[in-house]
Amino acid sequence: SSSLPSPYKVRPLERGDYGKGFLDCLRVLTHIGDISEKQFIERYEFMATQGKGTYYFVVIDDGTRIVGTGALIVEKKFIHDFGTIGHIEEISVLKDQQGKSLGKKVIETLNDVAVNVGCYKTILNCSEENEKFYAKCGYSRGSLEMTNYF
Ligand code: ACO
Repeated sequence: SSSLPSPYKVRPLERGDYGKGFLDCLRVLTHIGDISEKQFIERYEFMATQGKGTYYFVVIDDGTRIVGTGALIVEKKFIHDFGTIGHIEEISVLKDQQGKSLGKKVIETLNDVAVNVGCYKTILNCSEENEKFYAKCGYSRGSLEMTNYF
């Protein structure tokens, strides 16, 4: 997989990343709401303990702030010989950092994690406008997404 130019580094999400603008990076994607540092750390700790082996968040750090992020959620199944699949979620790159292959690097990193934890495939939902990006990352159109809001 491709390497990142200096000063960018790809690494797992850390509990100190609230202060490095992790949520601002996610805001590129969607509405986040008012999340305090305490709330962030509670969720982070949940994922690292009860959710161990399930939640893998990666970030791209430029040395001062988080400029890109993405997550792999691991699902263990009964079907397909007790198969494991990965869900790709929350891929987000700061607006002024888009088009520098950072998104692609996030996906490549999550692919490596998926293979290492035994996923036989990863799946994701995206808008039509992101289809070309994911196609360049090796994805092709799968099944239709259905949603039921509560
Ligand atoms: N249309 C066409 N091609 C694109 C697009 C696009 N919208 N976006 C990226 N590409 C191409 C690039 O040109 C590049 O091609 P190349 O390898 O031939 O040079 C390749 O895809 C990789 O692009 P990156 O530079 O790695 O993409 P970037 O870092 O800008 O990240 C991303 C792409 C994550 C979609 C970014 O634009 C973003 O954060 N958008 C807003 C949030 C969002 O919509 N996230 C995806 C939600 S879906 C989900 O999370 C499962």
